[in-house]
Amino acid sequence: MTKARIIDGKAIAADLQGRVARAAARLKEDHGLTPGLAVVLVGEHPASQIYVRNKSRQTVEAGMESFAYTLPTDTTQAELLSLVSRLNADSAVHGILVQLPLPDQIDPQPVLDAIDPAKDVDGFHPANVGRLWSGRLDALVSCTPVGCLILIREAVGDLVGKRAVVLGRSNIVGKPVAALLLAEHCTVTLAHSRTRDLPGLCREADILVVAVGRQGLVQGDWIKPGACVIDVGMHRVPVPERGEGKTRLAGDVDFDAAAEVAGAITPVPGGVGPMTIACLLRNTVIAACGQRGIDVPDM
Ligand code: GUN
Repeated sequence: MTKARIIDGKAIAADLQGRVARAAARLKEDHGLTPGLAVVLVGEHPASQIYVRNKSRQTVEAGMESFAYTLPTDTTQAELLSLVSRLNADSAVHGILVQLPLPDQIDPQPVLDAIDPAKDVDGFHPANVGRLWSGRLDALVSCTPVGCLILIREAVGDLVGKRAVVLGRSNIVGKPVAALLLAEHCTVTLAHSRTRDLPGLCREADILVVAVGRQGLVQGDWIKPGACVIDVGMHRVPVPERGEGKTRLAGDVDFDAAAEVAGAITPVPGGVGPMTIACLLRNTVIAACGQRGIDVPDM
């Protein structure tokens, strides 16, 4: 029987998206400003095509302007850099997102570095990474980590002095989540595949964020009783008993076992996933306000 509270990321994301849409409407009314988000997809990566379509649809639903660019798989580095340069100069575009992964002939770092930090709604530019780690309020912070923090705040309340363990040290999730939790006055350990005694370390965590990309790695006996568990993993796994070719989504945590022990836990799907786009739209509003010198409305 499940003991943990299931953190409803879908409902929390819908609530945030509503607040972002209201903020966008106020900007239009008070300042004649419609935030605009440009999303660039290179190639035909199937999962990326779905993500990009969802981002564009939800941007429009939130009352903002969406600019979608789909470039062929054989696009060159120079062609992509030229598009980024045009978007940097376009005053109707307040946020720029280049969907990753990029095809092999394109080195992603120079592309991410070329995005104007003021329009960097992914928070991947070194200027924004540096601002985040310096505790500056003017950082644009990557979307999935902000989504994780919103869910943690909702589940835990006061984070001051809590022991947090972040499993996974990627630039997209692990490192920025650790920076955000540190800014909230948690005591943070950033663990990874070479960390000794991962289960023992995880058992010390009041807050455990798992973003390692290994399905079902975290077992029930890795969890401290009552802990808040945030599962960023997303894997499609076969379910042969439901029929041939049938699949389901699963995370990095053994959900059923962990839910017996945790105080609160995110499901997969319906946990962290829905938060990412809501936070992207929020970042677009923040970026638009920054570029126009307007105070950011409450969201
Ligand atoms: N691909 C998977 N996640 C992300 C993300 O957060 N931003 C970008 N740009 N690409 C991604």
